[in-house]
Amino acid sequence: MAVIETFDKVQAVIDEINGSEPKTAADLEQFRIQYLGSKNVIKSLFGLIKEVPNEQKREFGQLVNKAKNTAEAKFEVLKTALESAADEAQAADIDLSAPGEPQALGSRHPLTTTMNRIIRIFERIGFVVEEGPEIEDDWHNFTAMNTPEDHPARDMQDTFYLLNNTEMLLRTHTSSVQARTMTSQKPPIRIIAPGRVYRNETISARSHAQFHQVEGLYIDENVSFADMKQTLLYFAKEMYGPDKEIRLRPSYFPFTEPSAEMDVYWGLETETDYRITKGTGWLEILGCGMVDPNVLENCGIDSEKYTGFAFGMGIERQAMLLYDVGDIRLFFENDVRFLKQFKSAF
Ligand code: PHE
Repeated sequence: MAVIETFDKVQAVIDEINGSEPKTAADLEQFRIQYLGSKNVIKSLFGLIKEVPNEQKREFGQLVNKAKNTAEAKFEVLKTALESAADEAQAADIDLSAPGEPQALGSRHPLTTTMNRIIRIFERIGFVVEEGPEIEDDWHNFTAMNTPEDHPARDMQDTFYLLNNTEMLLRTHTSSVQARTMTSQKPPIRIIAPGRVYRNETISARSHAQFHQVEGLYIDENVSFADMKQTLLYFAKEMYGPDKEIRLRPSYFPFTEPSAEMDVYWGLETETDYRITKGTGWLEILGCGMVDPNVLENCGIDSEKYTGFAFGMGIERQAMLLYDVGDIRLFFENDVRFLKQFKSAF
């Protein structure tokens, strides 16, 4: 009699499980605790096995196991049903006729578009992009570029040094990438190096302690000054219009000899032209020259066999011209009202 009751108890629990209909997440949790929790009913049923005679223990065990499996299966079914009901309720809340939320589209920074424009012009005639680190060592930035310590030309490019290692500095020009390329590649070399540079300068509408440059370097046998001039004329026409003229004025850079500065003829048609060219019609765009043999030798290139030219130009000034921006600081303030005026395909 007692044995039958024990079996009945288990069957009653199975029936109870099959019959339960939790409606809410809280009900379901209650179900889980009761039948699957750490102190669940089924565990206590297993305890009853000692009251069952030996020959029926196996059958009893199977029945309790069935109760356990039933609880587990039922729980999964109930859980899925509740979840999909919740999803449906949420979907019903969406108003498909409501207007969409507009996504604000960003645009490229004007310095990026100017830089990309310059890169594309040079890529078309076979220059490839090289990059170097902004935190540079003294050698690549100065010494290799024929500007040894105590050279007066270092004064023109004062910069920021790292406190814990004064051999390291924020590069003052992208010319450091010249040294990096020449020490790691063999001629012919034809690269442009765009990037950010730094100088210890007072920040004003016209100058900033951080700005961008694009460097160019071409080294091969028999590269001449005429090659440089033609390359730069091509650049000026592509960048500013086919009717543009250039002129080269003698200049000085420690790493080029002879050196020049290139002006583009901007004209004197408007008052702005007059102002930005200081009444001359000519506008300075870049510095350039034939790579000094010392630089080639410093970087392990035979200066008897190879010659080359290099140039370096500031991006901000050109972007200010292209987009008629009156204050260089605007480029670095990240003011959306400024930035959203530049929508471009580049
Ligand atoms: N590095 C020079 C500067 O920053 C520019 C330059 C580059 C001049 C290459 C000549 C050759 O002023």
